[in-house]
Amino acid sequence: MGKPIREGAGPRHVAVIMDGNGRWAQARGRPRLFGHHAGAKRVREIVQACPDVGVKYLTIFAFSTENWKRTQSEVAGLMSLFRRYITKEARALKAENVQVRFIGDRVRLDHKLVRLMDELEQMTVDCTGVNLTIAINYGGRDEVARATRRLAEDVAAGKLDPASVDEETLPRYLDTCVLPDPDLVIRTSGEARISNFLLWQSAYAEYEFVDTLWPDFGAEEFSRLVSAYGTRDRRYGGVRA
Ligand code: FPP
Repeated sequence: MGKPIREGAGPRHVAVIMDGNGRWAQARGRPRLFGHHAGAKRVREIVQACPDVGVKYLTIFAFSTENWKRTQSEVAGLMSLFRRYITKEARALKAENVQVRFIGDRVRLDHKLVRLMDELEQMTVDCTGVNLTIAINYGGRDEVARATRRLAEDVAAGKLDPASVDEETLPRYLDTCVLPDPDLVIRTSGEARISNFLLWQSAYAEYEFVDTLWPDFGAEEFSRLVSAYGTRDRRYGGVRA
């Protein structure tokens, strides 16, 4: 039932901004969706690499709250890709003991996709291997706004004392409430931005920006970045012991 996770000094939680699919396709004279399909194929390889390098949590950015601004055909193609991906990969993910979760606002997603997401979460709920979190219609600001709304509702209902609200309170309302904060955030394709990804959670993450376009990003480069993390001196605003 999946490989055991060799937890060590490396990052427990790695988050990835999978960028560069469009440019990868363009360089081959193909439509952007061709790049997204090639990118989706890379996900399995990275998930499978996690146990060997001690990564228990992997969070990937598949579609942002800003990605709706793309052409209607690209958006529709991506939504169809997500449906196909879930349908096709569900059995293998379960067999590999991968627990899958989705984060982001599901309200704007089509019912069929939401049903597939719910089913995959249910199907893998007892899996004890890698935790794969897929962000779809996710934006860090949107997540904090939604969390704040729920928190305010609890205050209004008398369930929460405003005077007790501190740094530990808000994360309980975030989509990621059951996950540890990411230790390492990787972005492919040479862009050095975080693009509204895990804003609250990444306050003390380490970052790696690499030039490789996502469809060319493989297990070897992933393992190298994860190993390099072991050499970082994380001080969380303090000083070295
Ligand atoms: C960014 O590349 C990528 C996306 C907006 C989509 C990410 C989706 C995948 C990798 C495939 C699907 C994933 C799953 C889990 C099925 P871009 O289009 O912005 O590239 P560009 O900057 O070169 O245009």
